[in-house]
Amino acid sequence: MNNDSSAARVAGSVRAWIASNPSATTLPSTRTLAREHGVGPVTVQHAVQLLVADGVVETKPGAGTFVVRAEPRRTGDVSWQSTALGPSPAVDFPGSGVRSVPDGTTALHTGYPSPALLPGALVRSALQRVAREPDAYLGSSAPAGEPALRSWFARELDRGGPGGLFDADDVVVTSGGQAAISAVLRALTAPGDTIVMESPTYWGAIAAARAQGLRIVPVARSRDGIDPADLDAALTMHDARVFYAQPTYANPTGSVWTADVRAGVRDVLVRRKAFMLEDDWARDLFLGAQPPPPMAAGDVDGHILYVRSLTKSVSPSVRVAALVSRGPVLARIRATRWVGELLVPRLTQRIALDVVSSAGWARGGAGLRRGLRARRDALVSAVRDASHLTVEAVPDGGVGLWVALPKRVDPAELTAVCLDRGVALSPGHEWFPAEQPGPFVRLAFAGESEDRYVEAVQVVEDAVRESM
Ligand SMILES: Cc1ncc(COP(=O)(O)O)c(C=O)c1O
Repeated sequence: MNNDSSAARVAGSVRAWIASNPSATTLPSTRTLAREHGVGPVTVQHAVQLLVADGVVETKPGAGTFVVRAEPRRTGDVSWQSTALGPSPAVDFPGSGVRSVPDGTTALHTGYPSPALLPGALVRSALQRVAREPDAYLGSSAPAGEPALRSWFARELDRGGPGGLFDADDVVVTSGGQAAISAVLRALTAPGDTIVMESPTYWGAIAAARAQGLRIVPVARSRDGIDPADLDAALTMHDARVFYAQPTYANPTGSVWTADVRAGVRDVLVRRKAFMLEDDWARDLFLGAQPPPPMAAGDVDGHILYVRSLTKSVSPSVRVAALVSRGPVLARIRATRWVGELLVPRLTQRIALDVVSSAGWARGGAGLRRGLRARRDALVSAVRDASHLTVEAVPDGGVGLWVALPKRVDPAELTAVCLDRGVALSPGHEWFPAEQPGPFVRLAFAGESEDRYVEAVQVVEDAVRESM
C-alpha cells in the first residue's frame, strides 16, 4: 500500500472516531495514532492534513489538533437562477473522455495515458529539482511563457522543416492544447462567424467553437485526409477564414493526411488567405514509423497556427502546450489569451522544460510508445473477435480505436448501458460537428491496461447485440 492510500485508510478510521466524539476533543497524538494503525508518523501527518482539508479537525499551533463539528449544510432557494440563466447553452457537457467514472470501471473512454505509461520518475525528479529553484514560485515576468521553454518548442517545430523559421518569439505557452484552441478561436473569430472543421474531429474543438458562438461547417474526413476541393468550397461558400484540423493521427480516427492532401490544403490556404489551426496533439504518440513533419514546419508565410501539447507525453497534470506561428496573428492571440488564463504557472513550465531536456526524455517517449503499441494491438485483437464491432483502420498513432457499429445502434444509449455494466467508452456523436454518417464509438487504449480488454469488449459486444 502506498503512502497516499495508507493515509486515506488512517483518515477513514479517525473520521469514524471523530463522529463519536464531541467538538473540541483533542485528537490522540501522532505517536499514538501511528502505533494504533501500524504506520509511520509521516503517514499520520498526511492523514491529519486530509482531515483538516475536510474541515473535521483543526490544528492550533502549540496546542494540538481538535475535533470540529461541521455546520450542517444550509439550504437556500436557488430556483431564481433558472430564469436568470435563460436557455441552456450550446455546450453543456464535457466530452466523455474527461468525465469521471465510478471506481473499478474499465476506462476505455479516456485518451490520457495511464500512469504506468508516463515518464513518472522523470516528472518526479523534475519536480524536486524545480522545487529547489528560489524563483520558481514567483510570478513570471514573461507573459508569453518561459523563454527557454519557448525556444525548445520553436526548435522542435523548426527541425521538421527547412530550419530558420521559428524562434522563441513565435511561441506562446498555454495550459494545455485545449486552452490554445480556445485562445485562437477567441482571437480570430467573433460570435456568428463560421469555422471549418473535419468530420469527425476532436470534441473539445467542437465545444470551444460552440462556446465562442461559431457556426461549424464540416468537411468529411476519410482515411487519407480531406479533399482539398471540399475545403476550398467550405471556405468560399460559407465565408470562413479559419480551419481547425489534425493532419497527423487525428482524434478519433488515428488517420494521417497524405503528402498530396497536405500540398493541396496548403494551396487552398494560400489562395483563400485562410488560417489553419494545426492541432498536433499526438506528435509524441506514434506507434509505427516516425510521423510526417508538422505542416507548420514549412509554413514560411504564417498560414498555420500550430498547437503542440505535452499533456499526454509528460503528464496530464503538468498542463503545458505551445501555440506557434509567424506574423502579427501571434500578437493578437497573445493579447486575447490573457483574458482566459493570464499566465501559465512558472512551476509547471519549468517542470515540463526539465523533463523534455533531460537525458531520459527520449527513453521515456520510447517506453510510452511501446506500451501504447502493445495496448493497441491487444485492443485490435479483442475487437476483431467481436462480430458486431468493426475497426475502421488500425491507427499508427494516437490513443484509441474508431469502431463502427451496426446501423441501428444508438451510440449514446450503448455508452450508457456499458457504463452501467462497468465499461466506459466514448460515443461517436460527440466527435461529429454536424450529422453522423453512421454510429461509431471510440475505444481508447491509453488509459486502461490490456488485461481488461477481452472482458470489456465482450460487454460492448453483448450490449450491441441486445440493442439490435
Ligand atoms: C485532438 C486533441 N486536441 C487537444 C486536446 C487537448 O488536450 P490538452 O488540453 O490536455 O493538451 C485533446 C485532448 O484529448 C485532443 O484529443
